[in-house]
Amino acid sequence: MDKPTLLVTRRLPPAVEARAARDFGARLNAGDSPRSAEDVVRLAEGADAVLCCPADRLDAATVAALPPSVKVIATFSVGFDHIDIAAAKARGIAVCNTPDVLSVATAECAMLLMLACARRAGEGERLVRSGRWTGWTPTQLLGTQVCGRRLGIFGMGRIGRELARMANGFGMQVHYRDTARLPAGLERGAKYHDSDDGFLPVCDVLSLNAPGADGTRKWLNAERIARLPRGAVVVNAARGSLVDDAALIAALGSGHVAFAGLDVYDGEPRLHPGYLALENVVLLPHLGSATVETRDAMGFLALDGIVAVLAGQTPKNLVA
Ligand code: DGY
Repeated sequence: MDKPTLLVTRRLPPAVEARAARDFGARLNAGDSPRSAEDVVRLAEGADAVLCCPADRLDAATVAALPPSVKVIATFSVGFDHIDIAAAKARGIAVCNTPDVLSVATAECAMLLMLACARRAGEGERLVRSGRWTGWTPTQLLGTQVCGRRLGIFGMGRIGRELARMANGFGMQVHYRDTARLPAGLERGAKYHDSDDGFLPVCDVLSLNAPGADGTRKWLNAERIARLPRGAVVVNAARGSLVDDAALIAALGSGHVAFAGLDVYDGEPRLHPGYLALENVVLLPHLGSATVETRDAMGFLALDGIVAVLAGQTPKNLVA
């Protein structure tokens, strides 16, 4: 029997590509060149499935233009804000993502940003590399310890809960804000806030862990930033769209927000140039899930979803 045809938009880890090539007529991207929406539509001609990435924008027009052969889109990410889900539904195309397997890696990245901010690791690294470091002094680059600080998590899904578990180990008190309270078994002592009023003032550190969506767009705006304690730390390993960049940059300049650690940017890979001029920010290139074991697991889960959909089953990672 002929293998189903799969379009893969970017280069994937070798083990994932090997399985794709074994189980599918796989159209891989050996050169890893970014694919435009037009490329995706053209290259998907006759394909049963598309395995895409967060950098591919599958908006309504692109999804509508996909060839009729396409039955499933799997994204190599937990986030699916780059895919127009309503358009996929309208076309009867299933959409899968990669939840769970990246929660630890992404929470570790948020923890990394938090520690790097609190202990001024970015400034320290730049100092050593510049050749201007003249040696230890009692007052050099003093940060703050995170132990004993209050961590506010906006979005207590799988990644937020993983971050809470790690932060507990660092002796932080965890607060969270979400649309609903978690069942007690999942809360593990974290304090739920059903409004910004109680939540924002307790965020010595605020971590954004909510999905990118219309309802969270620019959630962290000037008004909410003003309600954080002066000297707060902000970290974002979720989506850049959650932040009003101009407002955060202004607060970093005034010191109301002491440090920010960012892994994601609105419109990335472009980022607001204001961040580049600031010493008190740590900037990473969307590394959240970037570990060998996690990226392998993401690829296998995406392929599992495609196989299930093409076999007429409902995969556990079906978005819609
Ligand atoms: C995701 O999964 O949504 C990340 O942004 C990429 O790992």
